[in-house]
Amino acid sequence: MTRPHEVGDGPRRNIDESGYFRELLQRGVRVHHTARLPHFRSESPVEIRPNVLAEGPLSIGAYSYISEGTRLSVPTTIGRYCSIAHNCDIGGTEHPTNWATTHPFPWGTLPLDHWPAMREVKKRPFNGIEPIAIGHDVWIGTRAFIRNGVTIGTGAVIGAHAVVTRTVPPYAIVAGNPGRIIRYRFPPEIVARLLASQWWTRDMASLGTLPIVDVEAFLAQLGG
Ligand SMILES: CC(C)(COP(=O)(O)OP(=O)(O)OC[C@H]1O[C@@H](n2cnc3c(N)ncnc32)[C@H](O)[C@@H]1OP(=O)(O)O)[C@@H](O)C(=O)NCCC(=O)NCCS
Repeated sequence: MTRPHEVGDGPRRNIDESGYFRELLQRGVRVHHTARLPHFRSESPVEIRPNVLAEGPLSIGAYSYISEGTRLSVPTTIGRYCSIAHNCDIGGTEHPTNWATTHPFPWGTLPLDHWPAMREVKKRPFNGIEPIAIGHDVWIGTRAFIRNGVTIGTGAVIGAHAVVTRTVPPYAIVAGNPGRIIRYRFPPEIVARLLASQWWTRDMASLGTLPIVDVEAFLAQLGG
């Protein structure tokens, strides 16, 4: 693991033969050239696959990856060892539901500010954007929707197509619409020990030799 990289929407010419930014690849940060990440802070290694779009700041920890077509619409922090599947919606701007209209003309600008009338309307304060925080070792299944402002605890699993509107505790498995906890990955005592171990601060090579398929033995070897 290396220090975090600050990466802007860099020059499009630094693309290697396989379509990833060569400059970033050399630092272990594999970002496909079709990904749009205007405010990107990353440890390495990470992988960002084609057509990932982050509209706000994105911060991502080592050994995490985001698959094709996932869109992150609000400022998002993602921990280490996270697996984010394809075509997820991580956040989406909220519109006011108790005003006379949900249309953004009284508060928003983009992407409709090419309409002259949109620019002329007096803007009222409204914040439709709240950050999302995703812990370490979180697995988000395909086409999940995570609502603005939600925190997903370390070790959580989000089922495919889930609509997650509430904070998810560590090591919970949430599925369905609306997302509900269907079970926890481990009993509370194991969850507490996993959290205390902070195993995700270690690099992958040192973890690979541990008995990962047996969580008790894994914790015992970590001394937790
Ligand atoms: C959630 C998931 C991890 C399974 O967790 P699990 O605890 O093993 O779940 P089970 O198979 O024991 O199912 C428990 C219940 O949840 C339901 N369930 C499981 N996954 C569900 C989902 N995605 N949405 C809604 N309900 C789901 C099951 O139907 C079952 O319901 P029942 O008790 O009424 O029969 C898995 O179904 C899933 O969604 N995986 C994501 C796969 C994916 O998107 N991969 C992308 C590439 S990374």
